[in-house]
Amino acid sequence: MSLGFRGFRALHRAFGNYPAGHRLHILIRYITCPFTRTLEDVPAGARVLEVGSGHAAYGVLIEDRVKEIVAVEPDLRKSVLPSPSPKIKKVAGFDDCVRATDFDAAVVYDVTYRMPPDVRRALFVRLFARLRSGGTLVFKDMDNGHRWKMKWARFQEWMSDHFLHISIGEGFIYQSRAEVEAMLREIGFTNFKARAIDRGYPHPHIIYTATKP
Ligand SMILES: C[S@@+](CC[C@H](N)C(=O)[O-])C[C@H]1O[C@@H](n2cnc3c(N)ncnc32)[C@H](O)[C@@H]1O
Repeated sequence: MSLGFRGFRALHRAFGNYPAGHRLHILIRYITCPFTRTLEDVPAGARVLEVGSGHAAYGVLIEDRVKEIVAVEPDLRKSVLPSPSPKIKKVAGFDDCVRATDFDAAVVYDVTYRMPPDVRRALFVRLFARLRSGGTLVFKDMDNGHRWKMKWARFQEWMSDHFLHISIGEGFIYQSRAEVEAMLREIGFTNFKARAIDRGYPHPHIIYTATKP
């Protein structure tokens, strides 16, 4: 069975009892985002903090390889729905309601595009503090170096804001690879890596990883 189909089955199993509108939202996310190209960026056996986890679809897709996922999501429409897995502990709120500092991995997946640079930097500073030494940051974003793909991404977000109302916040701010690297290095992360994962997708998907020394 292909990874894409296996992921689809896992999501169907996990979210099968959700209301139809939410299932459709999760399906569209799965079809339009290359989740399956990023599963191994989270270290095996990790205890994971995911901030802005949405319905926790990424958590479902990585649950076999990790120990536990604390999935923090401020949008109550998503965070008060039942957890899709015993390994996923859902928290309704912002990241600062989690205080533990021993996570093996912190995941931020398509969350920061509404945050001005200073707010975004402050989030990564807090995540640096939440990671144990040697812990991994996994940051999925869009690469603003792709002019046409960025135009499409902005158009889709505009449609979603004006007609679907499925995300909180407003506006879109994307950083370049160099800006992300400079920000993370300045906070103290090392071992910075960037990987394009957008082949075959209309959006300029990119994944960054970095380590807390
Ligand atoms: C595009 S969705 C991505 C959801 C999920 N990470 C995924 O990949 O399917 C962006 C999510 O970020 C959440 N979000 C927005 N602002 C946030 C903030 N300041 N802190 C944490 N999450 C936030 C939204 O509620 C939304 O669920």
